[in-house]
Amino acid sequence: MPLPSLLLLATCYDLGVWSSIVIMSQTTFDFAAKAHPVCYKALLIIVLCILLGLNANAQSAPTAAEAMEQIVTRLSAVMTSDELSAITVASAGKLITHEEKLQLSTGHWFFETNVPVVVSVMRSTRQTTAPFWLAEREFEKTDLTVSNTEGWKYEVWQKSFPAGTVGLGINGFDNHLPHYFVAVRPQNPADNLTLRGFHPSNQVVHTMQAGSLTYHDWTELVLENVPESLQGQKLLTTIRGRSREASLASGFRSTPFPSTLEPTSVHLTWSDDPKTTQNIQWRASAQVEQGIVQFRKSESNKPFRNSAGKLTVMSDRMLVNDPKCHWFNTRITGLAPDTVYEYQIVHPRHDRRSAWLTFRTAPADDRRFRFLHISDTQDPKGTREAFEQMTKTGFEADFILNSGDLVDVGNERQDWDMLLNYGETWLSRIPMMPCIGNHDARLGLGAELYLTLFDLPDNGAEEIPQDASYTFRYGNTEFFVLDVMSDLEPQTRWLAEVLPKSSATWKIAMLHFPPFLIEGYVPRIERDWGSLFQEHEVDLVLTGHVHYYARSYPIRDGKPSADGRGPIYVTSVTIPSREFERVPPRNIAKIFGGGRIVNVIDIDKNQLRWEARTTAGELKDEFTLLK
Ligand SMILES: [Fe+2]
Ligand SMILES: [Fe+2]
Repeated sequence: MPLPSLLLLATCYDLGVWSSIVIMSQTTFDFAAKAHPVCYKALLIIVLCILLGLNANAQSAPTAAEAMEQIVTRLSAVMTSDELSAITVASAGKLITHEEKLQLSTGHWFFETNVPVVVSVMRSTRQTTAPFWLAEREFEKTDLTVSNTEGWKYEVWQKSFPAGTVGLGINGFDNHLPHYFVAVRPQNPADNLTLRGFHPSNQVVHTMQAGSLTYHDWTELVLENVPESLQGQKLLTTIRGRSREASLASGFRSTPFPSTLEPTSVHLTWSDDPKTTQNIQWRASAQVEQGIVQFRKSESNKPFRNSAGKLTVMSDRMLVNDPKCHWFNTRITGLAPDTVYEYQIVHPRHDRRSAWLTFRTAPADDRRFRFLHISDTQDPKGTREAFEQMTKTGFEADFILNSGDLVDVGNERQDWDMLLNYGETWLSRIPMMPCIGNHDARLGLGAELYLTLFDLPDNGAEEIPQDASYTFRYGNTEFFVLDVMSDLEPQTRWLAEVLPKSSATWKIAMLHFPPFLIEGYVPRIERDWGSLFQEHEVDLVLTGHVHYYARSYPIRDGKPSADGRGPIYVTSVTIPSREFERVPPRNIAKIFGGGRIVNVIDIDKNQLRWEARTTAGELKDEFTLLK
C-alpha cells in the first residue's frame, strides 16, 4: 500500500488520536522507506493493524444499552416477578457490577470534542433522585436553572473535559420522563468547537437559547428561560423515550395475556386487493416454530389449502411473564371475490388449533358496502366494553378503520396483547385497517410494535417506515392513510402523486390529528395535506386524538364552504371520554363529548350515509352525501 493511501485511510477516522499517529508514522515511514524496503512494508502492516485494532475498539465502545441488556437478562434469571417489580432506585445500584456501573455512567450518550470543553447537564428538578453518576463523576451542581414553556424546571450540573471523548450516563433507574439535555462550550472562548462521533448517531445540535426545542417527540415544547451564561452554547437535544432505557425501578411489567402454544391475538388486515387476498396474523409462545392457516370456501367440502405463517420474534425484555413470543403472518392470495372463507390456524408440531373462523372477500363490483370507524382504543377496559357492547348491539361491517392511538403505550407489548385479545372476536373475522397515533409511536421511540403487528399495503410514502402510510381500494372507494408521527413532507409528495391518479367515486383519508376542527392546532397538516384533500376532492377525513366527537361543515380554504362542497372532517373516540368544552372548536356542524362512538358508514354507489352511534346503538349524528 503506498503511503498516501495509508494516510488517507488514517484521516478517515473520526477520533483525534489518528492525527498524531499519522504524523508520527509519516516521519518513521520516510526513514524506513529509504533505509530498507522490507522494513518499510513491515512498518506499514504494523501501523495498519494498530489503526484497524483501535478502530474496532472505537466502534465497539461499551454502551449503557448493552449493559442494561446484560443486567436485565441476569436479574430475570435469578429473581421472581415480584422481586423484579420491587426494585427501587436505591436498590438498583446494588444489583449491578462495577463494570456495568461504569457503562451506565458513561455509555448512554457520548461524543467527541476537538478542544477542551465545559459540559452542562440540565436535569429535571421533578426527578426525585438525580442520576447517580453526576455527583460520583464530580459534576458540580450550579445555581443556574433552565425552564421550558410547560414550566418544567431543570438544574444545571457542569464539568470540564479535555479534548476527546465526553461520555454521559443514564437518566436514572426510575421512570422519570423528562430526560436531561446537554449544552457544550469551549473552555477557551476563542476556540472553534466541533462535536462529532455521536452516540446515538442521529444527534441534532441546536443553539442554547429561548425558543429552542429539547425533545424531538414534542417539538412544540421549547426553552423559555435560559441563563445568559448558557446562551449561544451548542445544545444537544434528545427524545423523552430515552428516559426509560435503564428503568430497573418500576420498569418491569407483566402482560395479562402471556403467549401460549395456542394461536391467540388473531386478526386480519390487507396488504393487497381485498377482492382476492387476505392477511392473517397471530401470536404464539416462543416454542412454536411453525404455524399454518388451513382455509377453503365456507361449507364447500373442497380440500383445504394451506398458507404458511412467516415468523417474527417479538422480544420485550421488561415483560417479566412473557419476554419473548413468536408472531406469525400469512398473506393468502388467489381468492374469489365476494366469498366467505372458513379458516383455522394450526400449530402442527404441538397439535394446537384455533377455532374455525371466517372472513369475506370484497365484491368485484361496486355494490353497497359498510365499514365502521373507531378511534383511540387506548383504554383496555373501555375497549373491552366497547367490543362487547358492539356485539350486543349487533353492529356488522365489511371492515373497520381505526384512526390511531390504538393502545396507550405503543412500545410496550402488554397493551397490544390486551387490545388484540379483547378485540379478537371482531378482529379475527373483520379486517381492521389502522393509522398510527401519538400513543402508538410514543416518546420518539417509533412505532415498531405497530409495524410488526399490522401487515398493511406496501404502497405508501418513501423515506418513512413501510406500512406507516398506505392506500387501498374497497368497491368504489379509495382510502388514503397517513402517519402524523413520521415526516410530513414525504407524505405530502406521496399524496400529491396518488390522489390525482385515483379513479374511485369516493375518496376517504385517515390520519390521527384532526385538522380544521380546533383553532391553530395542526397548521402544517392543514396547509400541506388540507390543500391536497381540497384540490383532489377528498370527501371525508377521519381522525381521532382529542377524545370527543366533532364533525365539520364541508371545508374550503379553512372555512365552511359557501356551496357545500369540500372535505368533511370528523374526529371521534370509541372509549369513554372527556367533554369538548376544554378546546375552542371551529367549523363545527356537530359536537359532543362522552365518547363510546362507532361511526357506521354505508356506501351505495353514489350515496354515502354516515351514522355516529354509541356502542349501545343510540344515534348521535347523521348525514348523507350524494355524488
Ligand atoms: Fe392521540
Ligand atoms: Fe388518544
